[in-house]
Amino acid sequence: MSDMLTFIKGVAKNPTKIGAISPSSPYLAERMVKAASLTNEHAIAELGAGTGSITKRIREEVPRAPLIALEPDPSLAAILRREVERIDVSERFAEDLPEVVAEWGHPKVDRVISGLPWAMWPAWVQEPIIDAIAASMAPDGRFVTFTYVTSQIVPAAARLRELLLRYFGEVHRSQIQWANLPPAFVYIADRPLVDPLSRRSTKKLPVRLMGVNDNTLQRILKELKDRDRRP
Ligand SMILES: C[S@@+](CC[C@H](N)C(=O)[O-])C[C@H]1O[C@@H](n2cnc3c(N)ncnc32)[C@H](O)[C@@H]1O
Repeated sequence: MSDMLTFIKGVAKNPTKIGAISPSSPYLAERMVKAASLTNEHAIAELGAGTGSITKRIREEVPRAPLIALEPDPSLAAILRREVERIDVSERFAEDLPEVVAEWGHPKVDRVISGLPWAMWPAWVQEPIIDAIAASMAPDGRFVTFTYVTSQIVPAAARLRELLLRYFGEVHRSQIQWANLPPAFVYIADRPLVDPLSRRSTKKLPVRLMGVNDNTLQRILKELKDRDRRP
């Protein structure tokens, strides 16, 4: 069975878990990998690796880096084991990242790359995962994740951005990758700010970032309109 067919069957069985209508395009995979700025010395964890569209590109970029993929769907995990060279695959959830990487032998990872369906999740799912990611990372680590433009109208998308701002010292956003279904952009989050005792962010988020003044959506809608106007 093709990877695409396995993916589609997975979506049909459990749409909120898979959270996408197709695997990431090679263009989005390229953007994610470049945004992560990988070296062979980095210990890398990928969350929600699916059929490996980003994983394979990571492997190509850094053939010798230690790489673990977390993919709880057993049929997708089997594809990753079969198709990606020199990879460790865990069928556990992203929430368990600190325990998974400790057992893996790299208690602090340098890069976390995510294909998780953030916009489908309520706060009580999102926050423990961001907390687990930040708690698993080296102080100079980098987290990259994509999110769909079409998801930006739901509150969960704004909440993801708030969580990134709260749990990381610096957060950037890429241009939109139009050659993906749906189009997506990448968040790049540096310097995790987790208090090692409480496993909570040490950063107090200014009130103005918490909601109504968030202009991400406006910027995206403007970018969409500008694109429509282009010949
Ligand atoms: C949007 S798909 C992305 C697949 C692939 N990374 C890509 O870009 O094509 C989301 C993936 O996250 C996995 N997933 C869902 N919930 C998860 C969780 N809590 N922890 C780890 N992976 C999860 C799903 O099984 C699915 O493979």
